[in-house]
Formats: sequence, structure tokens, C-alpha cells
Amino acid sequence: MSRPLLEVRGLSVVYDVGREGFWGQRRTRLQAVDDISFSVERGQTFGLVGESGSGKTTTGRAILGQVPISKGRIIFDGQDVTRMDGRQLRSMRQNMQLIPQNPYGSLNPRMNVRDLIAEPLVVHRRVRNARQATERTVELLELTGMSAADLHKYPHAFSGGQRQRIVIARALALNPHLIIADEPVSALDVSIQAQVVNLLQDLQERLRLTYIFISHDLAVVRHISHRIGIMYAGKLVERADRDPIYQNPIHPYTEALLSSVPIPDPTVERARRGEVLPGEPPDPISPPAGCRFHTRCPLSQARCVEDEPPMENRAPAHQVACWVR
Ligand SMILES: Nc1ncnc2c1ncn2[C@@H]1O[C@H](COP(=O)(O)OP(=O)(O)OP(=O)(O)O)[C@@H](O)[C@H]1O
Ligand code: SF4
Ligand SMILES: [Mg+2]
Repeated sequence: MSRPLLEVRGLSVVYDVGREGFWGQRRTRLQAVDDISFSVERGQTFGLVGESGSGKTTTGRAILGQVPISKGRIIFDGQDVTRMDGRQLRSMRQNMQLIPQNPYGSLNPRMNVRDLIAEPLVVHRRVRNARQATERTVELLELTGMSAADLHKYPHAFSGGQRQRIVIARALALNPHLIIADEPVSALDVSIQAQVVNLLQDLQERLRLTYIFISHDLAVVRHISHRIGIMYAGKLVERADRDPIYQNPIHPYTEALLSSVPIPDPTVERARRGEVLPGEPPDPISPPAGCRFHTRCPLSQARCVEDEPPMENRAPAHQVACWVR
């Protein structure tokens, strides 16, 4: 296989969340992401799935350099991004774009569609004048199923699905290779979700894009993902190609996530918030020793409480962190 477009090696992110002690002498640390590794092949989609608070957004932002990395390496197109600085880093970052988790918050309500989409083109000097900016904006709108008639409208004039198309057009403006789509359809009606996922899939084929598709819902990532990583409390607990995840899940947490697919109606709201299992995920400031899932795992044994299970091969290209399975 050719070299992956992105390799994440042993990534950890720790947030400083305050100070303890009379003089504030002890820092309180929250380890949001703990030693995770995965790679994403060119033109493919890596689905990153887990409950709310498991560290998905932090992983995406760390790859994009938007939060500091405590440990690990990000290798993009064979180059170690974590060792770059200045101009080289800025130009590399233009190749990676984010579709942020909150599509409404990310569109300035006082800017019209033309200005919203043209902004990155102007900031990065990809266009020389207003005419070029408009031409490229129309191209991007058409690519995402909108039209030149939308140029002078403001975000409030659009439905949720249309706004997400504008966000996608903006993310495409600089011709990135990698797009990190953070819960790109979670805020949309179920009927609209498939349209946006189809659009992303279509764009992937046409523009040979590589995606990291973040979701708390395994059902949502199923059709678009080539490979999937399951996160729990900052750790990757299972990593495999798409079909084995759905047909032969191994980790008890993956099984639990799958048992909530499809989501029954009365719990849709709960599931939308990313709560799919009974019980609470552990406190990220003081996670349990051993396997982090042991406080909720039906198969937990004495060893699980003491020792942390390493990621190990269970089948070709299928890794799992569990002592029992
Ligand atoms: N800027 C920050 N400062 C401190 N803690 C943070 C920060 N951002 C996230 N966290 C904490 O890090 C952990 C992981 O958060 P993150 O947003 O990455 O999770 P997530 O999987 O994206 O969750 P969701 O599904 O709710 O979006 C959580 O405990 C969260 O409270
Ligand atoms: S290591 Fe133990 S607690 Fe953790 S998932 Fe496996 S069986 Fe459950
Ligand atoms: Mg998130």
C-alpha cells in the first residue's frame, strides 16, 4: 500500500484546567487524549467514533495544530508536522481543513455567503481581485449543490442542511487534501443527514479528498468510512476496517455502541447528545486505573481493574485493547 496521507502516532493532549492547593501550587490536568495512533489512506475516510467527552474533537484539533500536543507525532504526507514551524507549517496547514462541530456558530451571521466563502481565499491570497473571488465562490457553491443565486444571502436565510453546504464550500476553498469533519450531520434532521453524507462522499470521489469523519453514532459513519477507530475516555479501544467493526466487533464498548444502532425513537435525543450506554463515562480528571471501561463493562474481571490493556492485533488490520476479548 502507498504511504498514508496522515499518520497519528502516540498522540496525547493534556489540558490545564485550573489550580489546586492553598497557593494554587498544583496544576489540575485533564488528559483528553491518551496515546492514540491511527493512519488515514489517501482518498479514504477514517471514522472516529465515541461518546461525548471521549476526545474526538480534541484529536481533530490537535491534528490541525489548534490545541498543543503533549506527546506524539502527526505525520502528514510523510512530513512531521509537529517539527515544523513558521511558513512551512502555515502552508502545510492549508492542506488540512476543519468542518467544525457547530455549523451555526461557525458562520458569522453578519457576513453574506460570498464573503463567508471568499474569506479564506482573500486571507491566503489565492485570488487577486473581487471578480476572481466571486468566480471561485460560485464554483464552490455549485460544487456543494448551491448556486450563484445564493451569493448575497445571509446565513439565517438557509435551512440547516444548506448552511452545512456553505460550511463545506468554505472548507474546500483552499483545495485541501484532508478534511476533518467534526459531527458534520449531528445537528441536522435525520432526513437531511443522508444528503449531506452523500455530498461528502461525492466530493471525496471527485476531488480525491481524505476525511476524518467524527461522530458519536456508528450508524452515521457506516457508509462513508473505510476504516474506523472507537474512542473511549481519551483512548482508542478498537481500530479496524469498516466491515469487521459492524460484523465482528470485538471490544465490549464497540458492541455497546452498536446495540444502539439504529437509534430507537424515544432515545434519539439522548443518543444525539452522545449518550449511548447506561452509566457515566469516567471523570477525565481522575480516570479509573486499569481498563477505563471497567466501571461499565459487563465482562470486567479483576485484572481489568488493575492493568491497562494494550492495543493488540486480533485479526489482520484489526486491533483491540481488552484483556478478555
Ligand atoms: N479547551 C478545553 N479545556 C479544558 N478541557 C477541555 C477543553 N476542550 C475539551 N475539554 C475536555 O476534554 C475532554 C474531551 O473533549 P472533546 O471535546 O475532545 O470530546 P468529544 O469526544 O469531541 O465530545 P463531544 O461528542 O461532546 O463533542 C472532555 O472531558 C472535555 O470536557
Ligand atoms: S479489559 Fe476488561 S473491563 Fe476492559 S473492556 Fe475488556 S473485559 Fe471490559
Ligand atoms: Mg466534539
